[in-house]
Amino acid sequence: MAQALTPTGLGFHSQIDYAGSVKISSYAVARMMGTWQEGPGPAHQRLSDRLRLLILDGRLSLGAALPSERDLATVLGTSRTTVGAAYRTLVEHGYLATRARARATVRLPQDTPPEPPAGGDPMTIDLSFAAPPAPVEILHAAFAAALERLPHHFERHGYDRYGTAELREAVADWYQRRGLPTAPDHIMITNGAQHALGLLARTLLAPRDKVLIDHPTYPHAIRTFTDAHARLLPVAVGASGWDTAQLQAAGRDAQLAYLIPDFHNPTGMCMSARVRHRLRLACPTIIDETMTELALDGAKPEPFAAHMPTAVSVGSVSKSVWGGLRIGWIRALPSLLQRLEKARPATDLGTPVVEQLATAVLLNRRQTERPDTLRQLRSQRDALRKTLAEHLPDVHAPQPAGGVTLWATFREPISSRLAAIAPDYGVTIAAGPRFGIGGAFERHIRLPYTLPSSQLTEAVRRLTQAQLALSQGATGTHGPAPVA
Ligand SMILES: Cc1ncc(COP(=O)(O)O)c(C=O)c1O
Repeated sequence: MAQALTPTGLGFHSQIDYAGSVKISSYAVARMMGTWQEGPGPAHQRLSDRLRLLILDGRLSLGAALPSERDLATVLGTSRTTVGAAYRTLVEHGYLATRARARATVRLPQDTPPEPPAGGDPMTIDLSFAAPPAPVEILHAAFAAALERLPHHFERHGYDRYGTAELREAVADWYQRRGLPTAPDHIMITNGAQHALGLLARTLLAPRDKVLIDHPTYPHAIRTFTDAHARLLPVAVGASGWDTAQLQAAGRDAQLAYLIPDFHNPTGMCMSARVRHRLRLACPTIIDETMTELALDGAKPEPFAAHMPTAVSVGSVSKSVWGGLRIGWIRALPSLLQRLEKARPATDLGTPVVEQLATAVLLNRRQTERPDTLRQLRSQRDALRKTLAEHLPDVHAPQPAGGVTLWATFREPISSRLAAIAPDYGVTIAAGPRFGIGGAFERHIRLPYTLPSSQLTEAVRRLTQAQLALSQGATGTHGPAPVA
């Protein structure tokens, strides 16, 4: 059953102390810890490793005051000696500061390695980003056509919070072609789908509202909703997909729902037609259709709003064409778009015109549907699954129906530790807990198949070495890589 959680440890179980630092309760820490008891090595080391990863991941924020050793030991069901030893290790390595008669507070060591430069080490294989490279010729041609059209916009000021007429029309036509009647005034253009989510969260949510989310889900959506001080109601996307009854029950308790039914990130699953037809949610619902064009086996699904006319759809060309375009949109009733238009100037005053015109060209030429890219993704997906089966036979990675990622399950809860050590072996990955709340998914990692097959094979070979090192007691110190 769905349960409201406050993933950062703020909220119910935290308070601000007299010195201004946030006190994290032992219950909040325990929730974030997940299954730390399992795994090799002594308990105090597993505990300090896990706390360090939570600090590096930002889930235990700088300056936060941790619970006392005794309180944490009681809630974790372990000895005070174990917690004391873990805290001492963190103090020694610069992750905790202590003062007499005060709680230990989170800090970072002075010599924390700086973030890798943009683009990272060129020898490292980056499996943290799940996005395909740009289709060079198609993009060139679209921008050439956009530049021809651009002078038509020069007489106006160029600030347009709804987007250019050309792109709003092209997006509306894209829905029309897919069988969903849509007028340009149902469309607002945004700077990518992430911007759309931020705008919707700011406009639709009040502090402490509950947001129903898929579990796992897209990490930046989690961040968007928690930054809006919402509480999250996770509903499992399990091996057989979405559960209508659970979604509907959670929807009665939530003020907003956020679902990724088309080639869900990270699992790649597609919500069945049966669930789509039956699902009725009592709360406003955001449907993230960022992955819609990436149907690898079978046809792409109908637009969700065809079944749920009240749904607010969010789309993007980041996965179908290129993330660097930074173009997305919201399809909603004009009354909601008016509210968004009023909220928008707090963060931005519109979307760059040339990129909008180029995207309109791409949509009108049907070039967001790219059979050659789908063919390539299919072959890379199959190569990744094959190489996983050869090198890491204990890892279970079901075949996704679409999208760009495998959701791989290990036997042991090693995900955060593997992500922290993997860069030492020349590969970066996104650990499972980043896709969930409360420390869930410690046995999972997300593996994108957007790189060439030869690189994917090499990445799996490197991960195998990293996993071997972990099993022999090695630990890594790398913080979480940026994800998309
Ligand atoms: C499900 C989902 N929604 C939104 C986004 C953000 O998309 P954009 O690049 O258009 O902001 C992503 C990017 O990875 C995603 O996977």
